[in-house]
Amino acid sequence: MAGNWKMHFNIKESTHLANDLAKAVLGMDDREVVIAPVFTSLAAVTQAVSSSGIKVAAQNSFYKEKGAYTGEITNAMLKDTGCTYVILGHSERRTIFMEDDGLINLKIKAAINSGLDPIFCIGETKEEYDAGLTFNVIERQITLGLSGINSNKLSGLVLAYEPVWAIGTGLTATPEQAQDIHKLIRGLFKKKYNNEVAKNLRIIYGGSVKPSNIDQLMIQLDIDGVLVGGASLDVESFSRIAGFIKT
Ligand code: PGA
Repeated sequence: MAGNWKMHFNIKESTHLANDLAKAVLGMDDREVVIAPVFTSLAAVTQAVSSSGIKVAAQNSFYKEKGAYTGEITNAMLKDTGCTYVILGHSERRTIFMEDDGLINLKIKAAINSGLDPIFCIGETKEEYDAGLTFNVIERQITLGLSGINSNKLSGLVLAYEPVWAIGTGLTATPEQAQDIHKLIRGLFKKKYNNEVAKNLRIIYGGSVKPSNIDQLMIQLDIDGVLVGGASLDVESFSRIAGFIKT
């Protein structure tokens, strides 16, 4: 159950929300809760949640280990703050910052090699969805994004399916639509790797996840969690999401 705070909150605000959240999710031991603050808040937030079960993700990283790359940050530097995950391939990185499948592949490899678990985001745009290209797009994103990575390196990877048309729009895939795509994704991993990898892969859904739709999403067989943007910025709504009711 991951909250992507995107470009919100200074250090004080992030720490405040992290502290509140740590209290609100107390006792939710059968699920993993992850929050992704901005870079400048990572160290303070990992400290704030260190005695809770909450884990921390960075929202991006670069694939080089050091050098003249103004404005970038390495996986080792992120690990140094105490975070354990990094979100890569998010649609906002793909569309606003022109990241392509090749660059995302380099970033995923580098993150895995330095011991950070990638939350690898994929998803089709509205135009691709309308043209019936959803599966072609996600197959391409998975194939190119994970190119050259051995199946034994995939145990920590989380795959986030986020239809771009559902992100921040209030439009959400129906739980059944999301389930259908998640099932296809798991099938693809079975074909490309093996049954074990497919079975163990955590496939999470993102795109306008809210307290009102979380329970229906989480009862779907192949939905293992969610990546939440807007609704993760408020302790009440995110703790309700993290505390989804299993039926
Ligand atoms: P949203 O964002 O929940 O605001 O739609 C999801 C995401 O971008 O991960």
